[in-house]
Amino acid sequence: MDYQSIIDEISNEITPLFGTGKVANYIPALAGVNPKQFAMTLTLFDGTQYSVGQADTLFSVQSISKVFTFTLALKFYSKDLYSRIGHEPSGNPFNSLVQLEYENGKPRNPFINAGAINITDALMNHYGSCEAAYNEVLEFIKSISDDYSIDSNDVVAASEMQYGHRNLALANLMKSFNNLDNEVEDVVGIYFKHCALEMNTKMLSRAMLYLANHGVDPITDKCYITPSQAKRINAVMLTCGHYDASGDFAFHVGLPGKSGVGGGIVAVVPKTMGICVWSPELNAQGNSLIGTKALELFTDKTGLSIF
Ligand code: DON
Repeated sequence: MDYQSIIDEISNEITPLFGTGKVANYIPALAGVNPKQFAMTLTLFDGTQYSVGQADTLFSVQSISKVFTFTLALKFYSKDLYSRIGHEPSGNPFNSLVQLEYENGKPRNPFINAGAINITDALMNHYGSCEAAYNEVLEFIKSISDDYSIDSNDVVAASEMQYGHRNLALANLMKSFNNLDNEVEDVVGIYFKHCALEMNTKMLSRAMLYLANHGVDPITDKCYITPSQAKRINAVMLTCGHYDASGDFAFHVGLPGKSGVGGGIVAVVPKTMGICVWSPELNAQGNSLIGTKALELFTDKTGLSIF
């Protein structure tokens, strides 16, 4: 298949959509991003990459980091993880408090904010400190991306904390239900640092390969998780990766995927490739509007959906 021609074609076809979404504006550091940007990278199992657009430009990974923290928590806690967190779609916005109250402080899944904050807490227990929990997650991300330059943007992380009232409320609510072990500010602080990591579409599509290949990196042969764990993560990406738009994403794209409010979306074509698209304008559910369209065009043109 001529992947380069296909993504070049997609890049042309999405152009009319610029201006139809809204860049995340809950913190100044993200509100200032130029909305008229688009990038897409495919990474195959032999490491070959096909890119279009600003594929070298770093952006804030935000909720895409939840895939990596979930991976490590599942690796260390296995099924015990599900005593503190579910794996059902929420059907609610990513930062909703209501469902968490009804369900006694147990988040529906690892990809809504409450779930990812809870996972950060579990990782802090496992690693023993804030610093270790942050550093080990970063080391894991560097390893799966095979890129050791990746770092967090301290301005974004500090700004998240300054405007972090809702996430702090989610953490406090979980604490009130005895479903958070560490101090609220510590857990949310590390969660924000993971969200503030900066990567580009080349790094992120490369990072998805272990999930496309049953937990083993097809380039380095490093085994990160079991095939069963990789299956579960892909399943949760498919059913929960886009919050209350997860059904819509499965309907239009048909791949396991995870979005972030920085405008990135990662997706997995099992046994074939990792994909990342980026375009900062978001739809009403907080997912990249153009990124979602680009992935829909990709699976339509190639037939590479899982369905
Ligand atoms: O916690 C937050 O609200 C942000 N740091 C991340 C949210 C996010 O990326 C939602 N994704 N679409």
